[in-house]
Amino acid sequence: MVDTFSSIPIVDFRRLQDPLTKAEALEQLREAIFQVGFLYLINHGLESLVKGTHEKLPELFALPTEVKERCNMINSPAFVGYTRLGAETTASKTDLRESKAIRLRMSLPAPDNLRVIQGQNGPPEVHQVSPAAPGSQGVGPHKDSTGLFTFLSQDDTGGLQVLNKNGEWIDAPPIEGSLVVNIQQGFEAITGGICTATTHRVIAPTTKTRYSIPFFLGVRMDLTLDQLRESAAHIVKCIPASDDRKKRAVDVPSEFLSPLYSCFGEAYLRNRIISHPDVGQKWYPELYERYTKEKLT
Ligand SMILES: [Fe+2]
Repeated sequence: MVDTFSSIPIVDFRRLQDPLTKAEALEQLREAIFQVGFLYLINHGLESLVKGTHEKLPELFALPTEVKERCNMINSPAFVGYTRLGAETTASKTDLRESKAIRLRMSLPAPDNLRVIQGQNGPPEVHQVSPAAPGSQGVGPHKDSTGLFTFLSQDDTGGLQVLNKNGEWIDAPPIEGSLVVNIQQGFEAITGGICTATTHRVIAPTTKTRYSIPFFLGVRMDLTLDQLRESAAHIVKCIPASDDRKKRAVDVPSEFLSPLYSCFGEAYLRNRIISHPDVGQKWYPELYERYTKEKLT
């Protein structure tokens, strides 16, 4: 058995800012990033905004089907909009998740052929996973793909699990008011794989609906892996190496670390097409053909 985590660490944002506690809190943050790739952020100051948003979610998902279908993602080559139950695939299995990706326009550069997904560097989403038989896949095992970090608010239902280096699924139970922060594949790429985008999944609830609000902090769509590594080299030098071969053996492959894709935008588009096969087939039939055949290395 390798040295690994058995729970998700808690980092207090207020302690990070207080000169008296900053050093100790930074040490906890460092440990969380190097050893786990996941942490709870508490006292972040967004509690009431997040709470108010959660209160609206049941109402949003309870809208009549025809209203939700009017903004179905199938109509969007930018993969923005409503995804009905069962239309999303993770780890080749259908998810029991209904979701809504809301576009937040950010004018970061993108190559010409990827203009359609420009502004996707951090679309906030809202997700709903309905009750199902015990052990059902709410969202299958995956790494977050968009860029640097994910900030997730989950309700009190539970079901989020994180894979440790021994291949064990560790529960990330709800902590009221917290944001779950995890590393995405862009940050993994910056650090040459030292800080890993830890694999996670959601087990579907059995008695009540689970609501969550993820925000994906992205990078420029036209950024290449080499540029990213170069620009962050001075930071990476300060990061201690860790032995996570065991974790990688049970891990899922990463588009952003694959030499098959030229820049983050292309890796992101590939990820969207595989995750939303109906949208991918409609808007990018040739890429869909190519990407579904291509094996990530
Ligand atoms: Fe995720």
